Amino acid sequence: MARGCEGIRMSALLAIRRVSKSRISESQRENPEFGSVFSDHMFVADYVGGHWGEPEIIPYGPMLLPPSLSALHYGQSVFEGFRARRTVDGGLALFRPRENHARLNRSAARLAMPEVPESLFLEGVAELVRLDREWIPQREGGALYVRPLYFGTDEALLVQPAKRYRLTVVTCPVGPYFAQPIRLLAEESYGRAFPGGTGDIKPAGNYAAGFLAARLAQERGFHNVLWLDATQHRFAEECGVMNIFFVVGGEAVTPPLSGTILPGVTRASVLTLMAEMGIRAEERPVPIEEVLDAHAAGNLTEVFGVGTAATVAPVECIRYRERELRLAVEPQSSISAQVRERLEAIQTGRAPDSHGWLMRL
Ligand SMILES: Cc1ncc(COP(=O)(O)O)c(C=O)c1O
Repeated sequence: MARGCEGIRMSALLAIRRVSKSRISESQRENPEFGSVFSDHMFVADYVGGHWGEPEIIPYGPMLLPPSLSALHYGQSVFEGFRARRTVDGGLALFRPRENHARLNRSAARLAMPEVPESLFLEGVAELVRLDREWIPQREGGALYVRPLYFGTDEALLVQPAKRYRLTVVTCPVGPYFAQPIRLLAEESYGRAFPGGTGDIKPAGNYAAGFLAARLAQERGFHNVLWLDATQHRFAEECGVMNIFFVVGGEAVTPPLSGTILPGVTRASVLTLMAEMGIRAEERPVPIEEVLDAHAAGNLTEVFGVGTAATVAPVECIRYRERELRLAVEPQSSISAQVRERLEAIQTGRAPDSHGWLMRL
């Protein structure tokens, strides 16, 4: 899966219109609320008449879009998220962006949208991040969160795939993520993903469909839901918008990529690192009864979520019906803390990038 991530050169075809004066403000850059402050520029490329037009980087700002925009009505809208970080040698690197490009294209294919060429995506992102690198918070752990969005732009209400599309990329400064231990409510009424559905890709609609369950859980004092499979409500699938790992009897286990789980880039990276660290990890269905029994027997030592935003976030409590499973969160010695540290070390260049996961800019 990993391919060498040699530096990407700016394409001569990429037109850049810079802001005349940066909007950067130290207070906003250093203490941003996640996803609420945007850097100066954005990338835009349109697909019209069966071809990608000339991509541009332009000042960040509103786009003029008609109310008949097909993506707003029928949901042909998919997105991605990954981070650009400073490395200890003073450089700048993206973490496994090719995986995000490949996943964007899997999402696009599932929604009958045309493919996005890899060079368009990677060159656009690389140039955008280079241009707005000053927006990366100076604080340790600061990053630029990169958010590509790809959507249908037909002005038409016919229920069919659009003929025109737009790819945009915006970036946000994000601070270090202090993963507070998560409290989860096992969800039995609503489903996130269905066999043959869209659970293994990233369309906007998946997230809207999860909001109500998350809000109801939050009203009961939980951070998010533990998604169970939507047909039997029996197997653990994901934790909010993260993949999930359980540590039972010293071995890690995570649900398999059976079509209803998002193939997270962090999940894949964590599995690789665990193998290297000598931690046994298995991908197999995890019935909720097994989780309850392991907890009752004292064998469930850790549960954690993994994803780009939090990297690795420990779970301190899972509520299933009348049962509340409490888990000790060990900041240093736990498997989750060790894996997190190893991943962070690679992302910032403190540890060798033996898998070619960094794309240096
Ligand atoms: C539903 C869901 N699961 C898992 C993840 C974690 O994926 P990744 O590690 O690629 O960020 C995400 C975030 O993209 C997500 O939205």
